[in-house]
Amino acid sequence: MNERTREYRDYIHAYLKEWYARSSDQPQAKLFEAMEYSLLAGGKRLRPVFAFEFCRMCGTDWKKAAPFAAAIEMIHTYSLIHDDLPCMDNDDYRRGRLTNHKVYGEAMAILAGDALLTDAFAVASTGGIVDAIAVLAECAGSLGMVGGQVLDILSEERVLTEQEVIDIQTRKTGALINAACITGAMAGGATQEQIAAAGTFAGALGLAFQIRDDMLDVIGDAKELGKAVGVDGSKNTFVRLYGLEKCEELVQKYTAVAIEALSAFEDTEYMEALAKSLTARTA
Ligand code: IPE
Ligand code: IPE
Ligand code: MG
Ligand code: MG
Ligand code: MG
Repeated sequence: MNERTREYRDYIHAYLKEWYARSSDQPQAKLFEAMEYSLLAGGKRLRPVFAFEFCRMCGTDWKKAAPFAAAIEMIHTYSLIHDDLPCMDNDDYRRGRLTNHKVYGEAMAILAGDALLTDAFAVASTGGIVDAIAVLAECAGSLGMVGGQVLDILSEERVLTEQEVIDIQTRKTGALINAACITGAMAGGATQEQIAAAGTFAGALGLAFQIRDDMLDVIGDAKELGKAVGVDGSKNTFVRLYGLEKCEELVQKYTAVAIEALSAFEDTEYMEALAKSLTARTA
């Protein structure tokens, strides 16, 4: 792993751990255990990496983005805990371990997700940028990730058009990636032009990322991915729409669009390399 990626990942892990360490004397210890079970399980920490790097590409100390990076990772983790519930995707493995509800039960898994979502805004508020908090709320809520999850569920067992699949993915996966890039840029003091470019990057990269996620459900290895494969059979995935070969092309195409948008920033080699590495990811 790249040295900078490791530094970002280690930092966000320690930051999240420390945030919850302050609650170690609370009587609802079971809740914290359930939250930390999923939050500190690892994962690629891609969204924090994006937030930190966009902040740095604006010429600012990347640690300024930490409250937003942490908040987005908390919201992302809650979305995964709920996504895995029996009433949603009904998955047993996540981030290389049993899913949250398999260990703590459905009620605790729902509540752990609720708490992660709510606490995320307490963390984000320490960043002191009201506009960034508004972006976070919009990307996570009914207009963003939750809206996408709803479209995803309602479209099962029905064959969608290309535009309908894109409408789902830009919300369920794209929106939080968008939040990461834009709030990171805001923390870095980005210009309006740079904020728009961060949005363009995120939109294209988010699509490439989800297409690859759909491909990995077919060609990936469960052990390497840390989650089960072959479980999207009834879902309107990009693979179902286009087939694997066309998906490969689309991942390349959207990644190129994303990289193009980086021209609004300085010192973009790391982000270019990261975007390219995601096209070939196997985990
Ligand atoms: C998984 O996200 C869910 C999608 C939005 C495709 P990641 O692949 O980023 O999951 P982690 O954070 O590494 O576990
Ligand atoms: C999940 O999409 C997106 C969110 C949790 C918002 P998927 O259902 O495709 O994610 P995986 O494949 O379970 O990680
Ligand atoms: Mg799902
Ligand atoms: Mg799922
Ligand atoms: Mg998936």
